[in-house]
Amino acid sequence: MPDANDSGQSKDYGIGIPQKPDVFFLKGSGNLDWGMKDRLARIFSPKSGRTVMLAFDHGYIMGPTTGLERMDLTIVPLIPHADCLMCTRGALRQIVPAASGKPIALRASAGSTVLTELNDECVIDVEESVRLNASLMAVMVAVGSKFEALTIRNLTRLVDMGNRYGIATLGVTAVGKELTRDARYLSLASRICAENGAHVVKTYYCEEGFEKVTASCPVPIVIAGGKKLPELDALRMAYQAVEQGAAGVDMGRNVFQADDPVAMIQAVRAVVHDGERPEKAFELYKTLEARKP
Ligand code: 5RP
Repeated sequence: MPDANDSGQSKDYGIGIPQKPDVFFLKGSGNLDWGMKDRLARIFSPKSGRTVMLAFDHGYIMGPTTGLERMDLTIVPLIPHADCLMCTRGALRQIVPAASGKPIALRASAGSTVLTELNDECVIDVEESVRLNASLMAVMVAVGSKFEALTIRNLTRLVDMGNRYGIATLGVTAVGKELTRDARYLSLASRICAENGAHVVKTYYCEEGFEKVTASCPVPIVIAGGKKLPELDALRMAYQAVEQGAAGVDMGRNVFQADDPVAMIQAVRAVVHDGERPEKAFELYKTLEARKP
């Protein structure tokens, strides 16, 4: 039984040593609640401030995308090398081992496919995100398209629900045929996501003025890889993006469609977390590829 008068041993109150305030390492995130910070710190390395997210949610609009025909064979070997897995609830339950221990960016909007009109979406029940222990909920935001209002409402709803449960929201800036991937558009779309409460924004890299996109977005930006590029070019894009202020990548096709996806994700990690130059990272890629049985 505890001694009501304590043990009589001397206590140390650290008088004169001020308690240090906790300064959170991600931009725009200092005022978030503890649970949300904890989830974000699982996605972004507190050491580098960056992340290598692996996106394989393409099937929700594209069906069996090249490289994702058998996710059990192609994605599962990549999981140990990813900081976070971005996928649908279907893929999560079907192929991601529950013991993998990786934070999940759950695709939380759905509603249309490449066969119809993209971005005509609704959001999934936030309780599903809680059940699946999601760290981040991803929602498409199609600024400038005819689904602009609908997708901003979806973002708003997820942010409201996520704030209730301490789950962060990832605003994914959609690009459509009618939208240009230039700095003007990407900074407009990214900023609109952040101002409407997104805790992280996913957008595309652009050659001209990308540093303005990251500078004017008050929360971390991760870039999508886009269509498959030669491996060295994809590494160059990742390098330039983080050099110009991105907090990492959320890459899909440029990883799982690479000649050697396991080597590629490790090369991307070298660029994102260690600041390796793309040419050196490509050497690493070739070395790892050559070791493949
Ligand atoms: C767009 C997405 C996809 O998951 C992601 O952008 C695709 O990744 P990548 O472009 O690198 O293949 O969020 O719907």
